[in-house]
Amino acid sequence: MWNGIIAKYGDYFGVKEGETVVSLNEGNTPLIPAENIEKMLGGIKLYLKYEGLNTTGSFKDRGMTMAVTKAVQAGSKAIICASTGNTSASAAAYAAKAGLKCFVLIPNNKIALGKLAQAILYGAEIIPVEGNFDDALRMVREIAEEGKVTLVNSVNPYRLIGQRSGAYEVCDQLEGQVDYLSIPVGNAGNISAYWAGFKDYYEAKKIEKLPVMLGFQAEGAAPIVEDRVFDEPETVATAIRIGNPASWDKAVAARDESKGMIDKVTDEEILQAQKLLASKEGVFVEPASAASVAGVIKLSQKGYFEKGKKVVCVLTGNGLKDPSVVAPEKELKVYGVKIEEIKAIIDDCLGSEQ
Ligand code: F0G
Repeated sequence: MWNGIIAKYGDYFGVKEGETVVSLNEGNTPLIPAENIEKMLGGIKLYLKYEGLNTTGSFKDRGMTMAVTKAVQAGSKAIICASTGNTSASAAAYAAKAGLKCFVLIPNNKIALGKLAQAILYGAEIIPVEGNFDDALRMVREIAEEGKVTLVNSVNPYRLIGQRSGAYEVCDQLEGQVDYLSIPVGNAGNISAYWAGFKDYYEAKKIEKLPVMLGFQAEGAAPIVEDRVFDEPETVATAIRIGNPASWDKAVAARDESKGMIDKVTDEEILQAQKLLASKEGVFVEPASAASVAGVIKLSQKGYFEKGKKVVCVLTGNGLKDPSVVAPEKELKVYGVKIEEIKAIIDDCLGSEQ
């Protein structure tokens, strides 16, 4: 039985047997070969690390199990975070499991409905603010300094330690043969965690070489790419609508040490990649997650990759969290309960394809 990432990788995290652990059996997500998209990309091997299958539907659970485990061990009674949605859902779930109070600050009207629904039902205290994620993060950092509540954003070091498990799993799944790791970048924690995870495995001699790190921001929220703070970040990918990432320096180090790059993709490229993932691979992700694939498509069109290289795209969150971005291509007509009419539609469709 799979018992979560601390049970599996606790040795790397310094968690000893017998310690109290708060887990929702997160992790162990599938690495799905993208055989159909791959054909369009001229010779690379493409894999999708589908983090939308974590317990709350995003990669945040990997970090949250560690952060909440440590908060409980330290005797904390309440946690707090700022969030574009997924962190709040994850924090609220782990707080529910551990019996802690959870406060979440979210940018008003700028988080996907599915994520809000999660936080509501998990029982968090939800505080929408008239500001963006960066404003909310600034406030929760200051509030947490007073010591009444534990901060569980990725500036909490345990978060990034837990998120290293994503890199361990990718290495385990591909037997160390990862050439490139592509990942969306928002607050820049996850790219930093993956890089640290790959270095752990390299030092432990579990892999022989380190992958090249490729990070992708949305064009309207691309502070690292443009090397300037975005005061008013804007993108359809609300999860990465961040103008001043907390782990900026760590992400730049991951990029430079791995000889990789952090680039930007447009909202249109993100939505096209999201559609491609669903329609060609059967994998439904939220827009932010599709940035990793949009970026690989863009680079492969420029001839960036050598033939035969293994490229892993981290798909950070489940598409079900944000259905509002998906509009039917034409208005759906409703039919009566008349089987002949339905048969005619099917024949029409199949006929037009022959
Ligand atoms: N993808 C998704 C689905 C996210 O929710 C986030 C971040 C990222 C990518 C970027 O990861 O911040 O580590 O660079 N979401 C945070 C939140 C900010 O509040 O849920 P990052």
